Amino acid sequence: MKLWQGRLEGEIDQRLNKLNQSLPFDMRMYRQDIRGSMAHAKMLEKIGVLTPEEGGAIQTGLREILSELESGKLSFDMEAEDIHTFVEAELTRRIGKPGKKLHTARSRNDQVALDLRMYLADETQILETSLHTAIATFIEVAEKHLETVMPGYTHLQRAQPVTLAHHLMAYAQMLLRDRDRLRDCRERILEMPLGSGALAGTGYPLDRDFVCRELGFRKVSENSLDAVGDRDFVLETLSCLSILIMHLSRFAEEICLWCSWEFKFVSLDDRFATGSSIMPQKKNPDLAELLRGKTGRVYGSLMTLLTALKGLPLAYNKDLQEDKEAVFDALDTVEICLDALSPMLQTATFFPDRMQRAAAEGFLNATDLADYLVGRGIPFRDAYAISGKLVRLCVEKGLTLETLPLSEYQKMHPAFEEGVYDAVNLNNCVRRRKVYGGPAPEAVRVQIENARKALEA
Ligand code: ARG
Repeated sequence: MKLWQGRLEGEIDQRLNKLNQSLPFDMRMYRQDIRGSMAHAKMLEKIGVLTPEEGGAIQTGLREILSELESGKLSFDMEAEDIHTFVEAELTRRIGKPGKKLHTARSRNDQVALDLRMYLADETQILETSLHTAIATFIEVAEKHLETVMPGYTHLQRAQPVTLAHHLMAYAQMLLRDRDRLRDCRERILEMPLGSGALAGTGYPLDRDFVCRELGFRKVSENSLDAVGDRDFVLETLSCLSILIMHLSRFAEEICLWCSWEFKFVSLDDRFATGSSIMPQKKNPDLAELLRGKTGRVYGSLMTLLTALKGLPLAYNKDLQEDKEAVFDALDTVEICLDALSPMLQTATFFPDRMQRAAAEGFLNATDLADYLVGRGIPFRDAYAISGKLVRLCVEKGLTLETLPLSEYQKMHPAFEEGVYDAVNLNNCVRRRKVYGGPAPEAVRVQIENARKALEA
């Protein structure tokens, strides 16, 4: 039997019921729903709408329901429409009349907004912990590779030498911003909508600030229509998740590349790799591929909700029920991805020799050669052209800038001296780049220190 029995007659058609029901997915908000109801009832008692006896019975009843759901003693009645109706009906079944008073001055419209805000506040907190673990792992592995020279790429072409530490710390920076974005988003999640009623508030003299404090919200919402009709806090969460998983996906793509025989910069631990059913030699980076692959799913959730919202008149419309599966799936997805990423990275074996060898091929020191000439008074644009010609000469002769004889250098320009070999030495090229934010080991050490501080903040 439905809540609205009175206005409507007879049983709901099963086909509508199937479409309409949200309990199968909103049941995961049972804790928030019950906590919210407890605060609401406490406030109703405080303003004299409920007697202390009624208030007491409601608190006890709700507490029991919560603990029985936690222990598994009570299971969800899958006939119920949603988590809100389930809890209210269960309470009334247990305590009778006072249970029927719980919903005074409240609508499921403000209730569902409250529950979802509480749920997202809780979940983003949990996510932050996983994110911290991932960032800490990037930092930890980076610290071991301050001196590991590798090619830095632009256009996926070898460009200038960097270190593995610097490369990994780039991801630590991205994830730190993801952490900050989530925190900022949580500020707006924590606006308390209860008291907005169905759309137009209520005539009861509710103490909204009391509920706000009880539930740990930051402020009460300002406009009842907005509070029940808006879901941009969910969109923001989904945007944060989309950006975050996009970062994981970029890293995952690099892991896939680096695992290939063409690169072989890294080998994953056997526990974090998979094999083939037919090719006996295979060791595949499925985990990284899945991190990359799951990204589309999170973007899909963001698109689902953006699209659901775009044409909605104020205030609440049932379309809004589509917010939950989208954001729950995105949260679950990002959570499993983050949890798998840290141990995969931690247990991976990097091959500094292979990286160094790759950096030695491809003239990554050509810019440094030009800089050497600039140091000898030649304008950069000229130095650039001379270096380019020397690279071409090396390509023709099958040599590198390190092995090209000094006589050839001097034929190109008299400013060249023995010191040119120091200038093009790869390790020197990296060590020289000690500008703040650069790849030199001493600069990356500072970066790591700052990232650790940011992580603690
Ligand atoms: N299950 C609904 C949702 O998720 C709860 C709010 C229902 N409100 C209503 N007026 N039917 O949005």
